[in-house]
Amino acid sequence: MDKATPAPRAVLFDAYGTLFDVYSVGLAAEQLFPGAGERLAQMWRDKQIEYSRLTSMSGRYQPFWTLTRAALQFSAERLGLALTAEAEQRLLNEYRHLSAFPENHAVLAALKQRGIRAGILSNGDPPMLASAVKSAGMAELLDPVLSVHATQRFKTDPAAYAIGPTALGLQAREILFVSSNGWDAIGATWYGFTTLWVNRAGLPLERLGTTPTRTGTSLRDVLDFFPS
Ligand code: LAC
Repeated sequence: MDKATPAPRAVLFDAYGTLFDVYSVGLAAEQLFPGAGERLAQMWRDKQIEYSRLTSMSGRYQPFWTLTRAALQFSAERLGLALTAEAEQRLLNEYRHLSAFPENHAVLAALKQRGIRAGILSNGDPPMLASAVKSAGMAELLDPVLSVHATQRFKTDPAAYAIGPTALGLQAREILFVSSNGWDAIGATWYGFTTLWVNRAGLPLERLGTTPTRTGTSLRDVLDFFPS
């Protein structure tokens, strides 16, 4: 964002990995499958996103929760891990009750104090988002909570991002879209949002010829867009 660009008028956050910490899922996986938990958690996450893209591109939408379960089952089988019904339930329950990253509450509270509307725009379907928002204790701080569900398309389909400007009554560039997922930050930039990639993991920029408006390392970097 150069100096001539006005401050955004609202913020939309990606959910998983950005507001909600999916690390606990890896810990539970490691307890269930010692030595293979990290690989399972990583493959599960990658497969979940791959399934979202496949179904979206082919017009075969299924709710993100259904794809999350399917991705877990595939990944366990692929890694030769015996996923009992109990283990599956335990891992899926972790996903429903994620914690927030430590700085998130303070950042959301600061936005509220500055009068900046802050919500979610996520691939998650409405029930899974509702339980994650509640268990992270963020219900009072996030409005609106937007799911791509109504569009039957997943990010990075422009139809999925379009629900943000429609719901907020703003132009895309007036909205700051924040994601820790590099591909999501790029997709949102392509769509026309002002973007912040919260690169918590120190990953390289996706080589797709586009750079997010800004790159940061924690959610606190959101506040730099809104001088107090
Ligand atoms: C989401 C996933 C992509 O919340 O993190 O949309």
